[in-house]
Amino acid sequence: MALKLPIYMDNAATTRVDPRVVEAMLPYFTERFGNSASRNHRFGWEAEDAVDNAREQAAALIGAGGKEIIWTSGSSESNNLAIKGAARMYAKAGDGQPKRGHIITAAHEHKAVLDPCKRLQREGFDVTFLDPPKDGVITAKAVEAALRPDTILVTLMWANNEIGTINEVPEIGNLCHDREIIFHTDATQWVGKMPTDVERDNIDLLSWSGHKIYAPKGVGALYVRRRKPRVRLEAQMDGGGHERGMRSGTLAVPNIVGFGKACELCKNEMDAERERLHKLRRKLETELTSKLEVVQINGHAERRLPHLTNMSFGFVEGESLLMGINDIACSSGSACTSASLEPSYVLKSLGVGDELAHSSLRLSLGRWNTAEEVDYAIDGIIKAVNHLRSMSPLYDLHKEGIDITKIQWQSH
Ligand SMILES: Cc1ncc(COP(=O)(O)O)c(C=O)c1O
Repeated sequence: MALKLPIYMDNAATTRVDPRVVEAMLPYFTERFGNSASRNHRFGWEAEDAVDNAREQAAALIGAGGKEIIWTSGSSESNNLAIKGAARMYAKAGDGQPKRGHIITAAHEHKAVLDPCKRLQREGFDVTFLDPPKDGVITAKAVEAALRPDTILVTLMWANNEIGTINEVPEIGNLCHDREIIFHTDATQWVGKMPTDVERDNIDLLSWSGHKIYAPKGVGALYVRRRKPRVRLEAQMDGGGHERGMRSGTLAVPNIVGFGKACELCKNEMDAERERLHKLRRKLETELTSKLEVVQINGHAERRLPHLTNMSFGFVEGESLLMGINDIACSSGSACTSASLEPSYVLKSLGVGDELAHSSLRLSLGRWNTAEEVDYAIDGIIKAVNHLRSMSPLYDLHKEGIDITKIQWQSH
């Protein structure tokens, strides 16, 4: 089959909606357009049935019960509801003090976790932001060392969105359960790709999002444990009392139907897809690291999502590299904030220097990537890196065996 350009290798940012998902959604825009909260006619019942069916499909993907699924607009909302909702519900009163408590998270979490934690900090909660080690993996041991008698909540992502590293989630959950601390995980990059069982993995609250699993944008879910323990959350939005009072607002029925269908497809196809993408990722990494020098794979060598890689290419400038491969859609290690290019705070937190952070690429494979596309990407990246290095005086010095970190640059 002819290669169609540009090719998309940014599936950690968002995924194309699966045509089978679109097909499942379509009737809920037109003939089955009812409001799932309308209790007194067939249009409402039909919509409610569809939402309940999607709840079961979503729950089945993570080993939960349908009643434990709360619909949201995506992972940002799920994280906000989980973190602020749990902290405010489980806050404890000190001696004559307002109700507060201690929360543990990590410095390389997504902003949709960091920012709710920072808001709670401003409200008087104590938050520990664990510094990740060089490999990016937060261990149960690191969490245990940070626990305090007043710890009420631990929130740590399952897999990191930039480097794909996998935290010790079941072990951390176990630790929290032993101490009756609520454990939330942002599983946006994990669920649908990797086997998940909230019982086996000791999870109380879990966030995930439609647009990372081939469903539309604007729909997500929060798993809220109902037994051992029954987790309670303070609502972040007041209104009609939908979703057991935890999240008011008329449900986006077509999106929810799509989310359910996407979960069902992921559950059925996950094992084969994971194996296929892992092979492609291995090829990408093996070829790029063997055919180019000064290439670094960021994050733990093995504890990483099988479909994602984050690599730094020494002696090239990240934005020039992206321009050099402009028919391969992927992410760089720089974030455009206002007018300046900031190196990724995730890479920085692992101790990756600014230069290498700027010269990094995140390639995240998905359902529609083919072996031909991977070959094309390998070829394109090698050509672009070699071209940029051919114009780099620093690379010339490196080739002459000069350690450029030891050069004393003269300033005039
Ligand atoms: C780890 C993680 N958490 C949260 C989010 C936010 O998800 P949403 O876009 O569904 O709000 C993302 C999206 O990039 C993510 O990767």
